[in-house]
Amino acid sequence: MPKVHWILPNGERVSDDVNENTNLMDAAQLNGIAGIHGECGGCLSCATCHVYVDDVWLAACPPMGEVETAMLDVVTSPRQSGSRLSCQLIATSALDGIVLHVPE
Ligand code: FES
Repeated sequence: MPKVHWILPNGERVSDDVNENTNLMDAAQLNGIAGIHGECGGCLSCATCHVYVDDVWLAACPPMGEVETAMLDVVTSPRQSGSRLSCQLIATSALDGIVLHVPE
């Protein structure tokens, strides 16, 4: 199972082994990560699952689609180079160890 690390705004780290093919918004909810709400359930219409992918993991992530790119223009926390919608990131061996920073 791929391991995912969330870094909370206060610096606390939460780590979990996530079932393969689970999206990382659902994984965050299962781990009670505050600040990742996933109000639309992962259908790309809310942008409340915004995370900052750690720089060293950006290249391992799949490319963004047009809708995700557009949705990131309306997130409440500032868009940065590592911004992604975590419902669009799927736990796979390629992302084993990924580090996600949770916005304020
Ligand atoms: S959960 Fe709504 S866009 Fe990701």
